[in-house]
Amino acid sequence: MHVLVLYETRGGTTRATAEAVATAMRARGKDSMLRPLGEVTDSHVRGADLVVLGTWVKGFVWFNVGPPNPVRSWLRRCPELGGKTAAVFCTYSVDPRDTLATVAGGLHARGATIVGERAFRRGHHTEGVKAFVDAVLDGAKSLGPT
Ligand SMILES: Cc1cc2nc3c(=O)[nH]c(=O)nc-3n(C[C@H](O)[C@H](O)[C@H](O)COP(=O)(O)O)c2cc1C
Repeated sequence: MHVLVLYETRGGTTRATAEAVATAMRARGKDSMLRPLGEVTDSHVRGADLVVLGTWVKGFVWFNVGPPNPVRSWLRRCPELGGKTAAVFCTYSVDPRDTLATVAGGLHARGATIVGERAFRRGHHTEGVKAFVDAVLDGAKSLGPT
């Protein structure tokens, strides 16, 4: 199974979580590629069986909260994800509101089957990464051979 871990970061928190996700994937024996969203190519995406997309949360705490524009625009132009599994995570400070649902909905609209979602609070943003990865891999495994 080839895993592609993508992230959009502003201050580095989401990158740290993404690195921990990729490390935990490798510890489970999965071939894992880590890329910032701005550097990912269509062929990276096409070569992946499982896409994990992480983002920070942008908004005004109680309104207009969600993924930042680079994530929204990438979801509109990313390659078809039919036959792939996907998982999403975010890092936030107060409340992620609908961020995970927005990102998962975008990946699902491209054809992916969502197998995991998790919000990590900044300051605790690597706690629970292993459990998240275990749940994602269990979800992917239940859908077919890895
Ligand atoms: C401009 C801006 C807006 C933000 N808006 C929210 C918000 O509405 N809700 C929230 O929970 N966190 C919000 N945050 C906090 C970030 O989502 C959080 O610190 C995140 O971990 C940053 O990730 P990064 O270091 O990868 O950029 C905001 C941060 C910035 C810089």
